[in-house]
Amino acid sequence: MAKIQDIRVIRSRPGGSWAIVKVITDQPGLWGIGSANDVHHAETVTTAIEQVIGPRLIGRDAAQIEDIWQSVYTAAYWRNGSILNTALGGIDMALWDIKGKEAGLPLYQLLGGKCRDAVPCYGHASGKDLEALAEDVQRWMEQGFPVVRCQLGAYGGGGFLDADSVSRPKNGRQMENVFDDEAYLENVPRMFTFLRERLGFGPKLTHDVHEHLKPHNAVTLSKLLEPHRLYFLEDVLPPEQIDWFRLIRAQCTTPQAMGELFVNPHEYVPLISERLIDYVRVRVSKAGGITPCRKIAALCEFYGVQTAFQEGGDNDPVNQAAAMHLDLASTSFGIQEENQFSEVERDAFPGAAVLAGGHLYPNDNPGLGVDIDEEKAASLYRDRAPSGTAQDRRADGSVVRP
Ligand code: CO
Repeated sequence: MAKIQDIRVIRSRPGGSWAIVKVITDQPGLWGIGSANDVHHAETVTTAIEQVIGPRLIGRDAAQIEDIWQSVYTAAYWRNGSILNTALGGIDMALWDIKGKEAGLPLYQLLGGKCRDAVPCYGHASGKDLEALAEDVQRWMEQGFPVVRCQLGAYGGGGFLDADSVSRPKNGRQMENVFDDEAYLENVPRMFTFLRERLGFGPKLTHDVHEHLKPHNAVTLSKLLEPHRLYFLEDVLPPEQIDWFRLIRAQCTTPQAMGELFVNPHEYVPLISERLIDYVRVRVSKAGGITPCRKIAALCEFYGVQTAFQEGGDNDPVNQAAAMHLDLASTSFGIQEENQFSEVERDAFPGAAVLAGGHLYPNDNPGLGVDIDEEKAASLYRDRAPSGTAQDRRADGSVVRP
């Protein structure tokens, strides 16, 4: 029996946002790693792991993952917050890594074995104008990505107006541009009209609203995009307004993907069990790790909903590996968000999953299959100014979610 001897965190990347948990056992050479990545609150998550949760787990049997998960989850009494969920998620991944190493099997084998040959991923195309976007979509398709997300620039792109061109208060703050729902409703459907005319209906395309719209406009956008037959429309509502999915569902067939901000079962369970979304997009670490996410995948299977675990630019190779193993073994898998790492980052995480031709491939190493070179990972740490607050605002100066 391997007992937990120590739990600590290695911080990597600017701001140390890659908080990688290492759970060390009393068995020589037996440890596991997990991702407690948080681009905004890595310091807080690290404190929770090293000073609060970790010390309570010393001496526990590392094999009892479910028991450890349940007892840590409820030990705080108050639960389902993003910080403690991420801390628990990182520890949970590390315990699964250990279990795979003890069994001598890749994690997907412990989860039931492969039910697909590799993991198809969607790429992120964007462009400042329609021509540039169409070219970028084609670039991703040529690389082999079976699904491509299409954005007009960054978060909220398509919804920004020149601040000088709109009616604003005379005491209005300094702003270059303002977010405008109606501009978004005009430009994003037009973007898909252009893309479908240019590329036809063969390409599987998605779009991410990043929760920028007022709820009634989210309904309107879903309806306006229906003729363009998206693979899915993502984050059309903020987490606070998910009841609006009922209205969207009643009015159109645009497939809905949601959940990268979810941490609480009260958010995703009703959306799955009432079939109000088509793809659940939780980040594995934020939902609390592999233990809850394999249950989410199983729940999805019974209701015909699919998983599309979140990745994106701020995630790390360890969280990606956890998602990939779930993807390989879940019949409810839909698509995986892609993520790519620099050469020095891959060097610091030997065994990181290989992304080639739009698909992720595991190796045959036991556990997650990815390790950490602590020195190299720590050397990627750079100081960074604290991350800011919400940037996008409407013409009157009020904040746009998320
Ligand atoms: Co998103």
